[in-house]
Amino acid sequence: MQHKKRILTGDRPTGQLHLGHYVGTLKNRVRLQDDYDCFFIIADLQMLTDHLEEYASIEGNVFEVMCDYLGVGLRPENTFFVQSQVPELAELTMYFSFLVTLARLQRNPTVKDEAKTYGVTSMSYGFLGYPVSQAADILAFKADLIPIGQDQLPHVEQTREIVRSFNRIFDKEVFVLPQPLVGEVPILVGTDGDNKMSKSLDNFIAFAHSPQETERRILNMVTDHKRAYRKDPGHPDECFTFRYWSIFSPSDTPLVCRECESATRGCKECKTQLAIKLNDYLVEIRERRQQYASQPDLVWDILATGTRRARVVAAETLAEVREAMKISFPQLLMKGGK
Ligand code: TRP
Repeated sequence: MQHKKRILTGDRPTGQLHLGHYVGTLKNRVRLQDDYDCFFIIADLQMLTDHLEEYASIEGNVFEVMCDYLGVGLRPENTFFVQSQVPELAELTMYFSFLVTLARLQRNPTVKDEAKTYGVTSMSYGFLGYPVSQAADILAFKADLIPIGQDQLPHVEQTREIVRSFNRIFDKEVFVLPQPLVGEVPILVGTDGDNKMSKSLDNFIAFAHSPQETERRILNMVTDHKRAYRKDPGHPDECFTFRYWSIFSPSDTPLVCRECESATRGCKECKTQLAIKLNDYLVEIRERRQQYASQPDLVWDILATGTRRARVVAAETLAEVREAMKISFPQLLMKGGK
């Protein structure tokens, strides 16, 4: 039997996941989970790059992300694991750190954006270097495919460069080149109509939000700047709310478009209807999420099983890496008496 190819992807546990994650990457993961051997990393250490002072919320956030994962329909049989509990990843990060120049890290556009968003002027070594740690996350599992949001592309590119350097310098094909895969809506603009949907900007709709909260957030959305009065015809192509219709309820768009252009539909009722559609869209996810959230022991168990498996796989890769780098020292292992 031919082995399945492997996926590795994941998220920082900075809080609950939202619709931006869904259309950017989670839908891809759900779609591909039967065809690939899937590893999902909850990158708690990476969260410390720019959320260091929130370290005390890691455990709760990891639980929330797991509920989101299982809620959107990722099956518990996949390998879910916590980054910090696989120490081989820290070890591999150390080895890779010699293969990447400072200048290269300083050019990473996503790192630059994040520093700007969080107002980081003096960057820590770990923050600047996290793309190297992300390469270790991917390569410890020799993943073939990396389903991610568009902002993660530079990190996969960095990973591919590390593969080439490592294999060349240590003269062994230890690693394969991973391929990125971006979702159907690479960047979902948040409910403010201006910025990428994100928790820190509070322009998001989370799976964990109630239908009422979702409606409130939709009703606050901007619509068509050019339409001053209810009786004026609207311009769907220039309306931010209309974009959400086309993403989350495409079959309704011809009707919405007609009614908007003929001014038979007002913006407020349009948004009320959109909220209903969106809540319908999320019903199943929220129910499943709630079922898992009410069984914490089960959720932690799924994560424990996955983390054990991740360690076994990462340890195999690390043995190969040390061997290629001539740092396995079999003499010392034998003298240790074990
Ligand atoms: N950088 C990702 C995020 O911000 C999380 C992440 C950590 C990741 N390691 C990864 C994603 C490996 C894909 C592959 O959400």
